[in-house]
Amino acid sequence: MNGSEEIIPCALEHADLLAEMHLRSFPDAAWKAKDISAILIQKTNNGLVYCQDANPVGFILWQEVVGEAEILTLCIDPDFRGLGFSKKIMRRMVEQLYQASVNKVFLEVSEENTIALSLYQTLGFVEITRRSKYYHKFDGTTVDAVVMSVDI
Ligand SMILES: CC(C)(COP(=O)(O)OP(=O)(O)OC[C@H]1O[C@@H](n2cnc3c(N)ncnc32)[C@H](O)[C@@H]1OP(=O)(O)O)[C@@H](O)C(=O)NCCC(=O)NCCS
Repeated sequence: MNGSEEIIPCALEHADLLAEMHLRSFPDAAWKAKDISAILIQKTNNGLVYCQDANPVGFILWQEVVGEAEILTLCIDPDFRGLGFSKKIMRRMVEQLYQASVNKVFLEVSEENTIALSLYQTLGFVEITRRSKYYHKFDGTTVDAVVMSVDI
C-alpha cells in the first residue's frame, strides 16, 4: 500500500478513536472510551497507534509489571488487515519493552482466532497453557483461551 505509515504512542485524547476501532474489530465485546481511558491512565499501561496517512487504523495496549508485559488488546481496522501492520506494531512494542528491560511478554487469545494465533506464532510466541471455557459467546457456548508467551 502506498502512503505514509507512522506508529505513535497512545494518549488519553485517542480514547474515543480507539473505542471506535475496538468496536469495528470486536463488535460483541467492544470497550467503551471510558474503559480505554481507565486503562491508559494507569502508569503500568502503555499503547501504540498505527497510522496510515495520518489516520489511525489500529492499536495495541499492554501492561508492564516487574519486568514482564501482558498484551491487553490488539486490533487493526478490517480494511487494513493483511498488510503487515500488526506485525509492525508488535515489533515496535517489543523494541520499547526491550529498552525498558522487560524480558517476557504474555497474551491470551481465543483458540478459535486462527489469524491471531498465526500472527503470534510468527512472532515467536509459544503456548504455555490454556484457560478452559474462558470466553463466553453470545450463543451461550464457551471457547478456551490459549495463553502464550515470548522471551525478548
Ligand atoms: C489479528 C489481527 C490483529 C492481525 O492484523 P493484521 O495487520 O491483518 O496482520 P498482519 O498483516 O501483520 O499479518 C501478520 C500475521 O498474521 C497472520 N495472518 C494475517 N492475516 C491472515 C489471514 N487472513 N489468514 C491467516 N493468517 C493471517 C499471518 O501469520 C501473518 O504473518 P505472515 O504475513 O508472515 O503470513 C487482525 O486480524 C485483527 O485486528 N483481528 C480482529 C481483532 C483480533 O482478533 N485481535 C487479536 C485478539 S488476541
